[in-house]
Amino acid sequence: MPNKFSKYICQNCGSETSQYFGRCMNCKEWNSIIEEKKGLLSKNFFDNENSRSKEFKEIQIEELTRIKSGFKEFDRVLGGGFVNGSIVLLGGEPGIGKSTLILQSAAKISLLEEVLYVTAEESLEQIKIRWERLDQKSSNLKIFAENNLLSIINEIKQLKPKIAIIDSIQAINNADMESSSGSVSQVRSCSSELQNFAKKHNIALLIIGHVTKDGSLAGPKTLEHLVDVVLNFEGDHIASRRLLRGIKNRFGATLELGVFEMQENGLNEVVNPNSSFTNNENISGVATTITLEGTRSFAVDIQALVNKSFYQNPKRTTTGISLNRVHQILAVIEKHIKIQLSSFDCYLATAGGFELNDPSSDLAIAISIVSSLKNQIPLRNCAFIGELGLNGQVRETNSIKSKIDESIRLGFEQIIIPHTKDNGFTNVQNIKVITVKNIQEAITLSLKLI
Ligand code: TYD
Ligand code: MG
Repeated sequence: MPNKFSKYICQNCGSETSQYFGRCMNCKEWNSIIEEKKGLLSKNFFDNENSRSKEFKEIQIEELTRIKSGFKEFDRVLGGGFVNGSIVLLGGEPGIGKSTLILQSAAKISLLEEVLYVTAEESLEQIKIRWERLDQKSSNLKIFAENNLLSIINEIKQLKPKIAIIDSIQAINNADMESSSGSVSQVRSCSSELQNFAKKHNIALLIIGHVTKDGSLAGPKTLEHLVDVVLNFEGDHIASRRLLRGIKNRFGATLELGVFEMQENGLNEVVNPNSSFTNNENISGVATTITLEGTRSFAVDIQALVNKSFYQNPKRTTTGISLNRVHQILAVIEKHIKIQLSSFDCYLATAGGFELNDPSSDLAIAISIVSSLKNQIPLRNCAFIGELGLNGQVRETNSIKSKIDESIRLGFEQIIIPHTKDNGFTNVQNIKVITVKNIQEAITLSLKLI
């Protein structure tokens, strides 16, 4: 029977219902719903008369003071460093290097400020082993191995650090709640308690959260709107490259990208990463695009392998590219280039597992697919830019100028871009700029097939 003092929350997507269901209506996950007691209106609800609205002219803006993370790449993604009293959520798959990055940063911050690192997953000995591997210096860095919320808040209260790090939020437990650590309600209650305390005492809080396979922050996904900054640490486990991506930032530009490299003694920042994701080699099945991430452009190789399929349903797998986008591009190729792809498996990967979000990489994806299928090398030393419309047109995209500049800097000899009325783009020195209106034109020019 539904209880009027209870609400029912899905542990997978965080959606709320007033009744228990075996399957979540929103994300369709089975057995993911748990009961949570509703809070009743507080007694003080009608007493709080001091809290009043203001006009803009009455609102004072305080100068933001920032704590430098010790890495230029990290600071850029943060918008200049951790803002005093702000809450930052760092997500990433288990094992990607979140604890390593944060321990290195904590050591650097501690040379100037008091830092508390709460390790709720690993013991003090495990942290010490990592620490010795990292070969860092620290001064005001305190390590606290604890997963009880009240003990953690108590330690923050005693120590009054400038920044407190929680590794990870899924391992913290609020003993007042019945559900187990890592559940949506635990994650939410622990974060809001920590957040209230940290805001009140002007302590910056860095919360680490693991992500699930589908890329959403498990439980912490529901925190994204509460915190000031959301970052994601990503990369290919096998390759050493790691990317720190800004997803939300109340104090700086979003979508900034920091580049790191995982080595034997921890993470090193790659300050000039522009050519890290391209080999600029001319082989079949590889096409390069230039993608804009925040304020920086990156040249990224897209690799395709298209093979005769032995399955009833051909296999399509991607790394770094959304599978839905690839399905759409395959359909556009089938329809407008008249190539039957339904009997071919198609594997696509970006260099170093770079997560491509810029739609202007569509054209390079299409070229790499057709190039692999026909075993033909695409146009030599060329970068491909353009979003593919469903009708086969190559659509204009923004930031063409900075993408052309980037390809010149990286030594590309030519670049294919969408047709544009602005011939300022086409009369550029040091690179041959070719414009195309649709995918047929692009394929004809790049692969000389049709
Ligand atoms: P870790 O920071 O524990 O990941 P997370 O906190 O995101 O779960 O990183 C673990 C991986 O990083 C592990 O597979 C080993 C590797 N690693 C290095 O390659 N070099 C190093 O110096 C360290 C400390 C870890
Ligand atoms: Mg960790």
